[in-house]
Amino acid sequence: MAQGVKRWYLSGLQTDERRMSILTIRSAKPADLAAIEEIEKRCFSAMRRSSHRALKHSLKSPTQSVWVASGRIDGKPQVAGAMVLHHHRLSIRIYSLAVLPTFRGSGVGRRLVNRAIKLAHKTDRTSITLEADRRNKVLTGWYETFGFQTYRVLKDYYSPGRHAVRMMRLIVKPALKGGRVCGRS
Ligand SMILES: CC(C)(COP(=O)(O)OP(=O)(O)OC[C@H]1O[C@@H](n2cnc3c(N)ncnc32)[C@H](O)[C@@H]1OP(=O)(O)O)[C@@H](O)C(=O)NCCC(=O)NCCS
Repeated sequence: MAQGVKRWYLSGLQTDERRMSILTIRSAKPADLAAIEEIEKRCFSAMRRSSHRALKHSLKSPTQSVWVASGRIDGKPQVAGAMVLHHHRLSIRIYSLAVLPTFRGSGVGRRLVNRAIKLAHKTDRTSITLEADRRNKVLTGWYETFGFQTYRVLKDYYSPGRHAVRMMRLIVKPALKGGRVCGRS
């Protein structure tokens, strides 16, 4: 256990910052299913949340991955946020992202999105896409801070009259230093 975390338990100090710092982003396990389902229930309306069956499938699917922000909070294991990714040949789609209300505003969501971006770099994808409620300007503005841009409006996506925007962030490979890497000079 890291020194700071040990101190936190011993002193009983539980500032939000410390609570968040002991959360780690990791790949979800089948044992996380109930916690992820609870997060979906608490963060999305019945119409928009993933079913038990869909989440179970996401955990097993070779073309999807599920990530959680988890750690021991107040001595108990806790899953604070979850993210479902769909892996396509050239892109990654953030299919679902949610953080429990009590853990919001402390960077958990940002860490999950950054994990998706890192994964896209690592697996040579060219972009990341997502859909967001067009009316939720706070949310779309937040995604813009990562470099996402709206490129399409999806009419009636959630329900009649409830439109979504599809946003995309390009994954740009850093230029190779030193010019040519192959061939004769
Ligand atoms: C969007 C969400 C995952 C962000 O998680 P988070 O851990 O609070 O994110 P961070 O702490 O990294 O960033 C906080 C920022 O999120 C932004 N934000 C985005 N959507 C928000 C929302 N619905 N309510 C409040 N803040 C929101 C705010 O700009 C906030 O900035 P602030 O802290 O300066 O006020 C979380 O608000 C959530 O679960 N919302 C409900 C589910 C949802 O809408 N998911 C996205 C589906 S596309």
